[in-house]
Amino acid sequence: MKKIYITRKLPEETLEDARSEYEVEMWDEEEVPVPREILLEKAKTADALLTMLTDRIDEELLNNAPNLKVVSNLAVGYDNIDIQACRKRDIAVANTPSVLTEATADLTFGLLMATGRRLVEASNYVREGLWKSWSPMQMTGMDIYGKTIGIFGMGRIGEAVARRACGFSMKVLYHNRKPKASAADIGATLVSKEELLREADYVVMLTPYTKETHHFIAMKEFQQMKKTAIFINVSRGLTVNESDMYTALKDGEIWAAGLDVFEKEPIGQDHPLLTLPNVTVLPHIGSASIATRTRMCEVALMSIMEVLEGRRPLYEV
Ligand code: GLV
Ligand code: GLV
Repeated sequence: MKKIYITRKLPEETLEDARSEYEVEMWDEEEVPVPREILLEKAKTADALLTMLTDRIDEELLNNAPNLKVVSNLAVGYDNIDIQACRKRDIAVANTPSVLTEATADLTFGLLMATGRRLVEASNYVREGLWKSWSPMQMTGMDIYGKTIGIFGMGRIGEAVARRACGFSMKVLYHNRKPKASAADIGATLVSKEELLREADYVVMLTPYTKETHHFIAMKEFQQMKKTAIFINVSRGLTVNESDMYTALKDGEIWAAGLDVFEKEPIGQDHPLLTLPNVTVLPHIGSASIATRTRMCEVALMSIMEVLEGRRPLYEV
């Protein structure tokens, strides 16, 4: 029987079809990633791996995985996988785009609103007993309605965020390597990186992480933004120079940041960013609705089963 190894505990109900036809084994902890040694060991005999963005799939692993036919990543991003190395060995790589687009756009817009209007800080203010009376300028934040949003990376998620922004009468700018016809349909305007940084009240990072987007935003970019700008990152931590971001936030180069992703995850409790009141942080939960994560598990498994039956994955990278 062909073997599927899953690197994190998934809801059992999503596994039924796979279990009826294949030998399915799973790392059964929810919070802790599979240790590297165990992953390497399991890969030696696996026909398929269902992986998380926390698993590194590299030459070392692939060199010792003679039966491996498919790596299916439970994410839209796949920067944890050496795609060239898989291709060389004819190993298919799959991801889970589309099914997570709207949920991730919801979270992105929610984080934008929470950061602009200081919702988390204000909630903590109440919980900590600091609320003594109503006062005119207490916990005042930035407007959202009618402001300008600038989106780096106008993919499916970027477009879904832009649609939400239209509902708030925002002016939508975006920067991509190529113009996107469907973005024009919703009134989004393609601009240069510099113009986006200069004009946007909300700068939103949604690019994949690649060599080209490594530290795409660093001190120079923060200095080009408005002093009142709000920076939102829902892509990958390494698209931003985190220590420059800390300095920019501390020195008032920008007004606030909302972050779902970090250079190192989980971010350390003693990280300087966590000392700043103008930073809203989340534990990488872009696609984390119950229905969406369940659907992602199903889709990731469907791609594996397609390949094991000799077909192409549902969503091939
Ligand atoms: C999450 O970050 C994903 O890439 O799906
Ligand atoms: C990225 O692939 C996206 O769906 O925006």
